[in-house]
Amino acid sequence: MTSFDLDACLRCSACELATTRQKVVVYRGNPKAPLMLIGEAPGAQEDQTGLPFKGRSGQALDRLLIEAGFNIEKDLYICNAVKCRPPNNRRPKKTELTACRPWLDKQIAEVNPAVIVLTGATAVQALLELKTAMTELRGKWQTWQGRSVMPIFHPAYLLRHASAKEGGPVELTRQDLSAVRTKLCER
Ligand code: URA
Ligand code: SF4
Repeated sequence: MTSFDLDACLRCSACELATTRQKVVVYRGNPKAPLMLIGEAPGAQEDQTGLPFKGRSGQALDRLLIEAGFNIEKDLYICNAVKCRPPNNRRPKKTELTACRPWLDKQIAEVNPAVIVLTGATAVQALLELKTAMTELRGKWQTWQGRSVMPIFHPAYLLRHASAKEGGPVELTRQDLSAVRTKLCER
């Protein structure tokens, strides 16, 4: 596999999302981070700024990561399963996930993270090709090509189910991120 070519990615037109996007959204954070977080796809703010998780979901995500003890700029490389915004924020199609998958594979090879966090069902589907419900899968360590993978709820889901009650999705996500932190500290 050839290495990740940022310029080529920024010019990609391998799927129809190329015709409606403003910017190709590649990553934010540290390209040498031990932890990679993969989301679904860019939304409006991401499409404008060229940076992943910059809208409301991103703010919620950043808060949780900071609370869990991460330094976002240093500890994380944040990206998405597809790099271009789907119109009206629809879910990426299977064909788009497949078209964009080589970029994701190259990002993983280049960053070489010990641990990968998958936020939401689309990221799980994109990387692990699993369709298990998130309520079933979250919090359970998976292994992919020798890397530890933690599926967690998507921050947009947490915004819709924002109660901090015991056993609720926000608290479960805090536990999952804490388990990720422990795993990284143990290395
Ligand atoms: N913003 C992103 O970059 N990805 C998501 O999955 C959601 C919002
Ligand atoms: Fe290329 Fe991925 Fe953008 Fe499609 S979503 S045009 S495959 S970078």
